[in-house]
Amino acid sequence: MSIKLCHINDIEDPGSKGFELTINQQPLNIFIVKKDDRVFGYINQCPHAGINLEWLPDDFLDMDKDLIQCSVHGALFVIETGECAGGPCNGQPLQSIELDIDGEGNIFLCD
Ligand code: FES
Repeated sequence: MSIKLCHINDIEDPGSKGFELTINQQPLNIFIVKKDDRVFGYINQCPHAGINLEWLPDDFLDMDKDLIQCSVHGALFVIETGECAGGPCNGQPLQSIELDIDGEGNIFLCD
């Protein structure tokens, strides 16, 4: 079963959006980053301290919107891969999630 998250036009380019889901009665916090009309999904959990990355809702990018940034201690992550690009994570990546986009631009979380 796929879960519809939003429409691709609901996210700025570049931009990001967070989602608080409940799947099988378990909370699942994720976020999507959109860049150059492509979308990338990650679990909203910083590998440094295991907590949510954003300080403000839907705000997962650095000031230049080039990298994902953890607001807690400033770790940076590559948008396309989730690899740590600097900060206290010592090369630990974000955990990616698989997304699907239908022909109308609706974004789904895949199983
Ligand atoms: S919790 Fe993200 S950098 Fe420390």
